[in-house]
Amino acid sequence: MKPLNVGLIGYGFMGRAHSNAFRKVSNFFDLDYEPVLKAICARDGGKAKAFAERWGYQSVETDWKRLIARDDIDIIDICTPNNTHAEIAIAAAKAGKMILCEKPLSMDGPEGEQMVAAVEKAKVPNMVWYNYRRIPAVTLAKKLIDEGKLGRIFHYRAKFLQDWTISPELPQGGQGLWRLDVKAAGSGVTGDLLAHCIDTAIWLNGSIDKVSAMTETFIKERTHTLTGKVQKVGIDDACAFLARFKNGSLATFESTRYARGHKALYTFEINGENASIFWDLHDLHRLQYFEHRDEGQTRAWRSIHVTDGDHPYMKNWWVPGLAIGYEHSFVHQVADFLEGVAKKKPASPTFRDALETQYICDAVLKSGKTSQWEKVGKSK
Ligand SMILES: NC(=O)c1ccc[n+]([C@@H]2O[C@H](COP(=O)([O-])OP(=O)(O)OC[C@H]3O[C@@H](n4cnc5c(N)ncnc54)[C@H](O)[C@@H]3O)[C@@H](O)[C@H]2O)c1
Repeated sequence: MKPLNVGLIGYGFMGRAHSNAFRKVSNFFDLDYEPVLKAICARDGGKAKAFAERWGYQSVETDWKRLIARDDIDIIDICTPNNTHAEIAIAAAKAGKMILCEKPLSMDGPEGEQMVAAVEKAKVPNMVWYNYRRIPAVTLAKKLIDEGKLGRIFHYRAKFLQDWTISPELPQGGQGLWRLDVKAAGSGVTGDLLAHCIDTAIWLNGSIDKVSAMTETFIKERTHTLTGKVQKVGIDDACAFLARFKNGSLATFESTRYARGHKALYTFEINGENASIFWDLHDLHRLQYFEHRDEGQTRAWRSIHVTDGDHPYMKNWWVPGLAIGYEHSFVHQVADFLEGVAKKKPASPTFRDALETQYICDAVLKSGKTSQWEKVGKSK
């Protein structure tokens, strides 16, 4: 296997998820390339060094510009808050690096457009970490839809529910809480959670034409961690929107961080003329499937345990019947990226693919303000 040296920026939640994936991928997948944990970059040198020792990184940087300037780095992996993605990605593209970027691609569509232009001009392999596509049950849903098993699709229904920002005492901004600060996050649940739902939806069911949204910020002011002052909250705490897909199907999407009792309840259901499917992140290795053409007496929802050798990705893991989990979606995404590099066929979603989600988010947030249906802006 040919080595590809990774320089990863940001050692938080995603820094750990990606490091784990880079470490495991070559043990489970036959690939031409092998990722090497060359450098971890974060502003706190001491913490970065501790992270490097724990995960096996060979070196540490405290300034991402120095990391990008290094000749021994092939891939830049961006695991930092949303407002840093564009600057880092554009600089990395100019330096000729391959780029993996966390979602959402950018703060908004126009910023994402600049990132797409940069990677396409530099002709560097690029991908955005919309990892839910690579949970085997979700990949199986895609396969069933593409095979026409559902027939004409009428409805798409997605939810992503959490409950961790209900306390008004929770500050906004800074380490761990940048998601509540609109300057760092760009938006609230729309860019953070609905972006995942939208990415899966357009992958499974095609483009979205227009949207009608309502958004709410339940807690209007919070203390800012960095300034110590009580400041206006600029993010959407909750968002629900209706959408019309180009294929004529209707959709509802809902996300909130105020659904007491729900930690990361991402679900989607798709209803077609012949069949329906339902998936739930809390039961991620199962795909619920209803086939109307089954014999009447035994027709029912089936719960497919997506763990057999002929299910997507599963032959690379254990024996049939044994489940895998959340972290494996990242391993699959690295495997697909490396295979794409070897075959010179980019793995999806590329920056350009992810730009479509960005424009849908923009239309949703705009509609939340105007209370009008909004057309999704350009992305192709
Ligand atoms: N794919 C997914 O399911 C998923 C899940 C969580 C987060 N994300 C995305 O991943 C990104 C990071 O989120 P997270 O949850 O890992 O955040 P986090 O707060 O856990 O970690 C962010 C890291 O970035 C570092 N950082 C911030 N600014 C920096 C800079 N200028 N230079 C170097 N390091 C810097 C922080 O110190 C921290 O280590 C976000 O874009 C987020 O939307 C994606």
